[in-house]
Amino acid sequence: MCGIVGYIGYQDVKEILLRGLEKLEYRGYDSAGIAVLNDEGIHLFKEKGRIADLRNVVDPTVSASIGIGHTRWATHGAPSRVNAHPHQSASGRFTLVHNGVIENYAILKREYLQDVAFRSDTDTEVIVQLVEKFVNDGLSVEEAFRKTLTLLKGSYAIAMIDAENQEVIYVAKNKSPLLVGLGHGFNVVASDAMAMLQVTNQFVELMDKEMVIVTSEDITIKTLNGDIVQRAPYTAELDASDIEKGTYPHYMLKEIDEQPFVMRRIIQKYQDENGQLTIDPQIIQEVLNADRIYIIACGTSYHAGLVGKQLIEKWAKIPVEVHVASEFSYNMPLLSEKPLFIYISQSGETADSRAVLVQTNNLGYKAITITNVPGSTLSREADYTLLLHAGPEIAVASTKAYTAQIAVLAILAVATAKAKGIELDFDLVKELAIVANVMEMLCDAKEEMEKIAREYLAVTRNCFFIGRAVDYYVCLEGALKLKEISYIQAEGFAGGELKHGTIALIEDGTPVIALATQEHVNLSIRGNVKEVVARGANPCIISMRGLETEEDRFVIPAVHPMLTPLVSVVPLQLIAYYAALHRGCDVDKPRNLAKSVTVE
Ligand code: F6R
Repeated sequence: MCGIVGYIGYQDVKEILLRGLEKLEYRGYDSAGIAVLNDEGIHLFKEKGRIADLRNVVDPTVSASIGIGHTRWATHGAPSRVNAHPHQSASGRFTLVHNGVIENYAILKREYLQDVAFRSDTDTEVIVQLVEKFVNDGLSVEEAFRKTLTLLKGSYAIAMIDAENQEVIYVAKNKSPLLVGLGHGFNVVASDAMAMLQVTNQFVELMDKEMVIVTSEDITIKTLNGDIVQRAPYTAELDASDIEKGTYPHYMLKEIDEQPFVMRRIIQKYQDENGQLTIDPQIIQEVLNADRIYIIACGTSYHAGLVGKQLIEKWAKIPVEVHVASEFSYNMPLLSEKPLFIYISQSGETADSRAVLVQTNNLGYKAITITNVPGSTLSREADYTLLLHAGPEIAVASTKAYTAQIAVLAILAVATAKAKGIELDFDLVKELAIVANVMEMLCDAKEEMEKIAREYLAVTRNCFFIGRAVDYYVCLEGALKLKEISYIQAEGFAGGELKHGTIALIEDGTPVIALATQEHVNLSIRGNVKEVVARGANPCIISMRGLETEEDRFVIPAVHPMLTPLVSVVPLQLIAYYAALHRGCDVDKPRNLAKSVTVE
């Protein structure tokens, strides 16, 4: 979702901002813009579409060493050049970029800005117009900026420049992510460290309701009361090559292929010196103290949570509920006496999940965040964090984060079982190592997956995924992958549920992808396949070695029966990838979607 960059220093800023915005493209956006300031004043360039389109309208002869940039994912007002950021105050003195949603913008407009002619349909414009109004009323720019912030309700990450002062970028944050990066003779602002790794790896986190005065030599963090806050920088442990595609045509394919490596890295990161998988004893204690675990997540992370429930209940014998964050937030179920909350979020920034975390923190319940991004909002605000160690996930469609989430949940389940004295008849290190090897074999089966995608999905308008038990959860994920990148209407169903309504949709040739990796439901899911075939469906059965029959289209080498989601999802990810490719879709940046969903 929207991304912000800013630079103040000595180099020409245009290319730094544009390159930074390119690194934020993965978050999803529909328009982009930059504003740079030099002795002639502000130069503003905005365009609907891609950064490449913005590059075409940036005047290459303008040179400046202070500027801000933005990628916009429309919430208030259609995607258009006018609604693209940066936005300017009526006189053009102040120029601002914003990520988030200002919930009370209409009230503020009515109360303070009746006489101002607004140019855009955005909620953002109200911020920059308010700053100008308060400056016109006699406040200093810093006071006006602070006063504006105190009036805003909602979420914001903001960077603002003043045409009358080339020495400062005004920055603020509440709920939306924003970092300040430190350099020698320059400083930067970014929604994500990746955007500014080109110039620095030293970053300072900002907390909610903080503002920062950023100059080329210094940064001053203040609370909205004006108190100065000291905070040490951290080193962003990202390798620039982690965020490059290399020889891959798409990030999604690269990230699918990285899954075996991620499995091995997770084993290594969670192993103690004796080779035993281990979790922070304080986390284990919290799990043991709980009478019920509530997993909260969205989208793919929710699907990983469903698998995690099976693992924790079967191995650690603790009841688990899994909830979609956006529902839980407004419809909280009756909680157990000693609940423990686990938030699963690749980005650690998802606003829906964060809204629940704020609620459960207020209720005094302990929370663990499972995330790929150290220092992310959900990580900071929970009591404990378990990291995925999956490396940056850039493609909008989540792949390696999903399997990493399941692996970390498996480790948590086994470590809890051990702490409870429950004997398990397998060694998870060995089982995950087998998973990694099988993933490798599946990644090598690209040709076969490409064939399946061409044969079943080249022209269809819909596709069903059916499975039972844990296969059902993987079907939900397979369907989500397919629909988000190929735009084929795809749904995952519990095999037994189809006949209660959905089977009415099966027509001649309707593709039905069935997963059959679970022995105890193998006959039942095959019965469900027969039911759809009798109504004309074109079935594609993907089964597990040992359970296969002649009719199966693809057989996955066997892994531990509880860990099958880690491998059965790989063919589904690849099928979705090739289906999207055949249909000419933008695999890494599907329409309407954002990688980091920072608005509720
Ligand atoms: C789908 C996908 C989304 C995310 C969801 C939650 O491929 O990526 O469904 O899983 O938006 O995001 P995180 O995990 O960052 O909280």
